[in-house]
Amino acid sequence: MAIERTFSILKPDATERNITGAINALIEQAGLRIVAQKRIRMTREQAETFYAVHKERPFFGELVDFMTSGPVVVQVLEGEGAIAKYRDVMGATDPSKAADGTIRKLHAKSIGENSVHGSDAAETAKIEIAQFFSGNEIVG
Ligand code: PPS
Repeated sequence: MAIERTFSILKPDATERNITGAINALIEQAGLRIVAQKRIRMTREQAETFYAVHKERPFFGELVDFMTSGPVVVQVLEGEGAIAKYRDVMGATDPSKAADGTIRKLHAKSIGENSVHGSDAAETAKIEIAQFFSGNEIVG
């Protein structure tokens, strides 16, 4: 399988509870490498752009409010089949449906405050990475 890169966010509920290290351990145990990482406070504009695909959904305002409510850690993860692998490691969006051992089963609070985001496809990963990182910030 090809080496891929995916985009990850450790969300405000994770930074608030000081569990970013615990989540990073699960990422690394799954064989993914954190090749870029920074802690930022997302602006409303950044969050609205990032989640633009969901702008007609009823929870859009709540999602933007949440993602701008505290610090987040944005990351680029690299590894074999990284996009699908990270989706597996994260578990289902709704933590009550997430498989045992996944990040969301272990840590997420709710469908909104669900600790992590990961890209859903190669094209999205490319766009999402470019929104937050320049090429020289990614060190593989
Ligand atoms: S996905 O990734 O498109 O299959 O998941 P989806 O269920 O469509 O959710 C997309 C993102 O919206 C968040 N979400 C919500 N936020 C607040 N309230 C409610 N009810 C809600 N439902 C979904 C969900 O956490 C997803 O965020 P990301 O960052 O993409 O994982």
